Amino acid sequence: MSIPSKEEMTPLKIDQLRSVYDMLSLKGRTAFVTGAAGGIGRSCAAAMAEAGANIIFADLSVTAEKLAENARAIGERYNAKVAFVTGDVSKEDDVRRMYAEAAGMFGSIDIVFSNAGISVPNDNGANIKLADWQRILDVNLTGMMLVDSVGANLMRDQGHGGTIVNTASMSGHIINRRPREAMSEHMMGYAATKAAVLHLTKSIAVNYVEYGIRCNSISPGIVVSGLHDKMDPNRLEGIKAHIPMNRFGTLDEIVGVVLFLASDLSSYVTGTDILVDGGATIW
Ligand SMILES: NC(=O)c1ccc[n+]([C@@H]2O[C@H](COP(=O)([O-])OP(=O)(O)OC[C@H]3O[C@@H](n4cnc5c(N)ncnc54)[C@H](O)[C@@H]3O)[C@@H](O)[C@H]2O)c1
Repeated sequence: MSIPSKEEMTPLKIDQLRSVYDMLSLKGRTAFVTGAAGGIGRSCAAAMAEAGANIIFADLSVTAEKLAENARAIGERYNAKVAFVTGDVSKEDDVRRMYAEAAGMFGSIDIVFSNAGISVPNDNGANIKLADWQRILDVNLTGMMLVDSVGANLMRDQGHGGTIVNTASMSGHIINRRPREAMSEHMMGYAATKAAVLHLTKSIAVNYVEYGIRCNSISPGIVVSGLHDKMDPNRLEGIKAHIPMNRFGTLDEIVGVVLFLASDLSSYVTGTDILVDGGATIW
């Protein structure tokens, strides 16, 4: 380990501090966003485009129409260079192909927002089917690992640093609190995979730190987005009572932490997680 130089140990003077707007800017960078046909992917892609990034929208081929529309609308609104690729994050060949297509179109990839995720029916100890358990592991954990490691290897081979932001969940920190009559809806496989994402994030952070690649995660609470489309609104009301802010989050309220973690504002942050949950995990 080298001894820090005198300059490194000398605190910056006020006129040497960088502008926070410059540090927030993603100008000239390209972000690869999975789950980009969905709510959180779309809103965070828009925020990164507004901050100056080119965006590659990635999602399942069944979403191609929505994906193309998101890419078009966001590209137009922010005058950003955009493209979309389709594939399944749980399949290694698909992930490699999507990155190869993205690199072919944009050259360098600098930011990965690994955000694709699913929930499955009857996700509790008593009722979950093995096929559903396997599927949620495949997408939420193996898919996250593939998108992170193939993306990090690409950035390493391109010879520059980068940032990876994973979407975990408050369910990775707690077992979702449910009204007593709905205890069986606590989400077992979802919680297990999201807890694993927190540890995967730390592991990727350590494995790639020498290449200047940072890896962090975000843990949203309940955000009004696609994932809850099929949930009974009465159940959602019951869950709201357990959130100190007494409301759900909006897509606008997720983008700030993702932008922070994607940008140079967080240049000394790696292997950590930021909860965005209206205080739900306080108790
Ligand atoms: N909305 C919430 O309240 C909330 C809370 C905590 C965490 N999250 C997480 O945020 C992420 C985004 O969720 P969202 O709310 O935007 O949901 P969403 O359903 O709107 O978006 C998820 C997207 O992931 C895509 N996807 C699913 N499986 C895929 C696969 N195998 N390969 C590629 N793409 C796939 C879907 O097609 C969809 O477009 C997920 O990881 C979710 O677990 C959401």
